[in-house]
Amino acid sequence: MLEQTLNPPLEVDRGSYWAPYFTYFPAMSRYLPTGVYAQQVRPRACVLGASDGKFALPLLRAGWEVVGVETDELFLDGGELDLVDGRHEVVGLRKRLADEGLEDRCTIVEQDYMTLPADGEFQFVMGSGLWSMPPNRHHTLQALFDHAMGMVAPGGIFFADWLIGLNPEERACGYYPGLEEMGRIVARDGWEVFENTDLGIYGESHLGFEQWHYHRYAAIVAHRFHAAAG
Ligand SMILES: C[S@@+](CC[C@H](N)C(=O)[O-])C[C@H]1O[C@@H](n2cnc3c(N)ncnc32)[C@H](O)[C@@H]1O
Repeated sequence: MLEQTLNPPLEVDRGSYWAPYFTYFPAMSRYLPTGVYAQQVRPRACVLGASDGKFALPLLRAGWEVVGVETDELFLDGGELDLVDGRHEVVGLRKRLADEGLEDRCTIVEQDYMTLPADGEFQFVMGSGLWSMPPNRHHTLQALFDHAMGMVAPGGIFFADWLIGLNPEERACGYYPGLEEMGRIVARDGWEVFENTDLGIYGESHLGFEQWHYHRYAAIVAHRFHAAAG
């Protein structure tokens, strides 16, 4: 039965290890076709750092085709994590897709996304919580965003959850810009920035940073104009 609503909001997948952590994704999803349009047209999304499916699974359930780019085998194949807040069982993305019969519409690419073509293939490209991770520090934040935005097709949407620096080290390293600096990073011809927003400070502990700490979350949503009619 087809969902008749134009675009019902998407929630994150509650079964993901990363589900409890803040994201602007549910609010941002109002820009995406998620109802009958998505089920009929099957637009294509690329989730950078797809992990165990926090964003890929809701997009797939809504009808999207998804390319999930991820380099961490634990989140693709599953396993156990012993952290300061206890043991976590990670059900990998592959099993989660198979359990719901979604594997035919999701391509997993086990590569650094910076090695993939950036030739405007996707109606939606997103990344959340990955920009400052160690492998990405081989590139400037400008290069990381240029590449990700280059993957967006004309008419498509780019979305990033990113972090604003909260202390001198973060502010100095180049991966935690302020709103103005992020505005300069994403500014380019043929695009309109829909939102560039400070979303406030959240406390958290997680894999990779288990000590209780704080992040100032922010989100950018940008629209690539449709190609001019010829
Ligand atoms: C901290 S997790 C966050 C997961 C989820 N996106 C979220 O926000 O809840 C970021 C994921 O991005 C992946 N990642 C980081 N940089 C990447 C890159 N350049 N290419 C592919 N995956 C990457 C990491 O392996 C990790 O699983």
